[in-house]
Amino acid sequence: MKISPEVRSRVLKLHKLINEHSYNYHSLDNPTIDDSDYDALFKELLEIEKKYPELSFNYSPTQRVGSEPLEGFSKVDHLTPMLSLENAFDTKDLEDFNKRINERLINEEKITYSCEPKLDGIAVNLIYREGYLEQATTRGDGKTGEDITHNIRTIPSIPLSFRESKIKAPNLIEIRGEVFIDMKDFKNINDSAKIKSEKVFANPRNAAAGSLRQLDPKVAASRPLKFFAHGMGSLNFGKNGLPKTQKEVLDTYVSWGLPVNPLTEVAKDIKACISYFNKIENLRDQLPYEIDGVVFKVNSFEMQESLGQVSRAPRWAIARKFPAEVGTTTIKSITFQVGRVGSITPVAEFEPLQIGGVIVSHASIHNFDEIERLDAREGDSVKIKRAGDVIPQIISVNLSKRDKKSKKIRMPSKCPSCNSKLVKLEDEAILRCNAGKSCPAQRAESIKHYASRNALNIDGLGDRIIGQLVRKGLISDFSELYTLKKEDLLELEGFAEKSASNLLDSIEQSKKTSLSRFIYALGIREVGEATALNLSLNFKNISKLLAADKEELLEINDVGPIAANHIFEFLSQKDNQNLITRLLNSGVELEEIKVKTENILSSKTIVITGSFTNIARSQLKEELIRSGARVSGSVSSRTDYLIVGEKPGSKLTKAVDLGVTILEEAEVLSILQKQ
Ligand code: IVH
Repeated sequence: MKISPEVRSRVLKLHKLINEHSYNYHSLDNPTIDDSDYDALFKELLEIEKKYPELSFNYSPTQRVGSEPLEGFSKVDHLTPMLSLENAFDTKDLEDFNKRINERLINEEKITYSCEPKLDGIAVNLIYREGYLEQATTRGDGKTGEDITHNIRTIPSIPLSFRESKIKAPNLIEIRGEVFIDMKDFKNINDSAKIKSEKVFANPRNAAAGSLRQLDPKVAASRPLKFFAHGMGSLNFGKNGLPKTQKEVLDTYVSWGLPVNPLTEVAKDIKACISYFNKIENLRDQLPYEIDGVVFKVNSFEMQESLGQVSRAPRWAIARKFPAEVGTTTIKSITFQVGRVGSITPVAEFEPLQIGGVIVSHASIHNFDEIERLDAREGDSVKIKRAGDVIPQIISVNLSKRDKKSKKIRMPSKCPSCNSKLVKLEDEAILRCNAGKSCPAQRAESIKHYASRNALNIDGLGDRIIGQLVRKGLISDFSELYTLKKEDLLELEGFAEKSASNLLDSIEQSKKTSLSRFIYALGIREVGEATALNLSLNFKNISKLLAADKEELLEINDVGPIAANHIFEFLSQKDNQNLITRLLNSGVELEEIKVKTENILSSKTIVITGSFTNIARSQLKEELIRSGARVSGSVSSRTDYLIVGEKPGSKLTKAVDLGVTILEEAEVLSILQKQ
């Protein structure tokens, strides 16, 4: 079929538009188009490509996920070896590094350093030819890696072709960087893996590695993988425009549309490097991803070249590692906990210890492989690790200290709560109690979730009280919280007149809530806070949500086919409908969703720091989202506003450095209230 020039140029235009919107969304975190308009462009391109297969180019944005899984991975030699880094564990190591460099570069001018967070992800090598992604490989042994092009192509922030830039794409370049998963996304992956009885990952790094080590690109496409470029292997730039420094290379990457960590800075000397390290160490807990240190690189390539390398690490770079967040303790007991949807998790309780400034006293062991691998037993001396805000983890057992009489942990065959037979389907990584609502532990967990801070926030209703209420048969689901009387509470351990009335007051207060908190509190599988908020903004009241069919659910931002199924199933069950009716009949009031009109905060990227006097932080966040703002966790050059409360953290310093506009509580509230 003859293809008209108009169709050809429309295809190119569509590539450009879709790539641009995708770049704004994934790399700048600043969408400039509605999802539905984006989908329409995508659909138009798909239709043209279907009609004219010759126009379905490999670099088209529709071609990120190839159709067929690979048979196996092929090995590829890197054009330039992928080196590793020497480590510095304290300030003295850094000063020594600087001294060594100065001694070798006696006649050189001032040495500046590129300072970059050291991401704890997976190192990859991307080959771009004439600006088009040709091949992507893992680091492997540094010389030879495995071809993972099919998976790398699915990562939305990695361009299949460079953006237009003043700097011409070289004939060939190896771009190096780190693929990673944000901690929040890692938690979500594990939560849904648990629900589906699939293997859970020990940490975000393993989740990223596991996603790249798949033959079927659909798996990687379903995982929220991200990328930061941080280096260069071979470069064939032609004569002009050869960058002279690491900083220039990273700026060039940005101009081509590759993501570079916005916290990267150039330090004028080693003292400035040390301050940079301190700054990043303070920021560490607020970052959405895990880092295990900071990398310093001599900025000038000429200097790098004259410094050369020793064995497999360059002399011009060093990684200043954070002190390991590990500690040693003794396991007091190992018990089995039943989750909200029946998964059985062994939990080791140990002598409390401090790691990275936080006291920890227990760790979950997530699956059978882990139990087998660790073989942790009661009385064992163990090493515990805590990374960022990820829950503590047992890393190893000190076998030389093991009591000879200790017994291997045996997985239970019956539910520790309801005694029903546990099931483990073939190939499943976890055991499950399928008794559902007739299992007291699952009932207690769902009540705990209902009362938790981000759900109905019932102050004073802790695990121990809920456990007693369920065991004594005083309540069997969360709707019955509203039927509790003072006499009931007085029957429980540790309750007196005053504490009983306080708890009843909190239960009463929880009745005034928002639709989104209520939806979240129901504990529907796959419905976290963000999904609950999206559902509430779209359906506006509970009856409309109850009447929704799967198609309507699928139209909601954030709701995929699995979540849509769970929501639909949950809301179609008579039991659940009755539960919702009982809650509403007991006086639970769902604040009507007011659709906000545009204000100066709409479509802006906003960060919040500190505590607020006249509004709860979570409420402020919700109000901002309702106004159409994007609320982000960390300040970057893309932040439009920082809202500061009392005792602001280091986000304020960063925002001032970057020239971000600062707003105070009162100003924000007056903007929000004007609507
Ligand atoms: S540069 C010769 N920069 O750390 C330079 N590496 O131990 C080699 N990494 O395999 C790497 N963030 O995966 C460099 N900003 C950064 C990095 C970084 C994380 C990883 C990388 C490498 C390992 C080196």
